[in-house]
Amino acid sequence: MSTPVSFENDIKPILQQYMGQMMWRFDMTLYETVKANAADINYQIQSGSMPPQPWDNQLSAEQKQMFADWVYGKCQP
Ligand code: HEM
Repeated sequence: MSTPVSFENDIKPILQQYMGQMMWRFDMTLYETVKANAADINYQIQSGSMPPQPWDNQLSAEQKQMFADWVYGKCQP
């Protein structure tokens, strides 16, 4: 069994690199904030809308799957 996806270990390091660009809306490094907006954020990530095109730093398929797994696992801290 693999370790469940956690915000601190897995999600925060990914979102942190986009923090400055999304600060106008929310701080993506805060657990409670990302949890509260998880469905919206997951939709943006899975649809490929966020990060926007063109932007150098896109998410890998593994990173997208990890975010979906985190939401499915009820957003563990
Ligand atoms: C994984 C990284 C990112 C995630 C999860 C994310 C998430 C989101 C979400 C959930 C919204 C909708 C907010 C709302 O309207 O309530 C949004 C909008 C927006 N984001 Fe991001 N964002 C990311 C990266 C970025 C980056 C890198 C930029 C700038 C280069 C950016 C610029 C914008 C802008 C301009 C909007 C508003 C316009 C629109 O909805 O297209 N975001 N983002």
